[in-house]
Amino acid sequence: MDTKRSGRGLRFRDYEHVLRMAGLFVLAVVAFLVWRSWMVPRDFGVYGHFRAGAIADAAVRTPLYAGQASCIECHGDVQQVRSSGRHAAIGCEACHGPLGQHARGQSDVAPVRPDPRIVCLTCHTARLGMPAAFPRIVVKEHSESGSCTECHKAHAPGLQ
Ligand code: HEC
Ligand code: HEC
Ligand code: HEC
Ligand code: HEC
Repeated sequence: MDTKRSGRGLRFRDYEHVLRMAGLFVLAVVAFLVWRSWMVPRDFGVYGHFRAGAIADAAVRTPLYAGQASCIECHGDVQQVRSSGRHAAIGCEACHGPLGQHARGQSDVAPVRPDPRIVCLTCHTARLGMPAAFPRIVVKEHSESGSCTECHKAHAPGLQ
């Protein structure tokens, strides 16, 4: 330790650089608070940790999915077939994709029928870690080509 210096005590120029840093730090915090109050929308936090206006923004967007209840209104026959099978709990649009436009009658084009091989194998290809009770197939052994619906019905897949 420098005994000469400590004998004279601290002088301003010994800690001036620390004050300068502290000053910069305070300025940065103030600048951040100003920037933040300018950036955060006025209606933020009215109902929770989000912008209240986002609710109205989301409500005007047209939903991509219609929901199964709406499909059943016109395709009651399909639902009747389904209700007896083991696919009863799977929503229509899980296999058919989003059909909001079709269900609202906004499209003149009838939806394409899903390709069974693509749809079925998404769920049923045997994989490690599947729940023990989940029905699975090893594709090569079970059905190498052709449509799954030659033997299974898409809406009630068991072999009655
Ligand atoms: C307002 C009535 C209506 C609603 C709601 C509706 N559909 Fe349809 N859908 C029809 C009509 C009409 C057709 C064309 C006639 C036909 O092929 O049965 C059709 C055709 C289809 C087809 C093609 C059928 C074929 O033979 O190739 C599929 C698949 C389909 N709809 C699925 C759905 C799904 C899934 C939903 C729910 C998201 C849905 N539809 C909601 C009336 C409706
Ligand atoms: C597990 C998947 C799956 C689910 C869930 C499903 N579908 Fe399908 N659907 C298919 C496949 C695959 C086809 C095409 C079958 C074929 O080409 O042999 C099809 C065909 C259809 C068709 C054409 C006519 C027919 O009966 O084959 C309609 C209409 C239809 N689905 C409506 C619906 C509706 C409405 C729901 C819900 C109530 C629904 N589907 C649920 C997979 C599914
Ligand atoms: C979204 C996932 C999903 C898709 C897609 C799907 N399945 Fe399934 N499937 C299931 C589930 C889940 C079960 C078993 C339900 C249960 O435990 O009762 C099942 C059951 C089955 C069974 C056993 C039926 C029985 O009675 O033993 C067969 C066969 C089957 N599916 C064939 C198909 C075929 C064919 C397709 C394509 C048209 C298909 N699955 C598409 C989820 C799916
Ligand atoms: C030639 C007829 C035929 C074709 C095509 C076929 N299957 Fe099967 N499938 C069967 C028969 C028969 C059974 C019941 C006996 C068995 O488990 O092998 C069965 C059983 C199943 C099961 C239940 C397995 C279990 O462990 O409970 C699933 C899932 C299945 N098939 C899915 C499919 C899928 C997905 C396709 C298309 C890639 C398909 N099948 C094509 C005849 C067929």
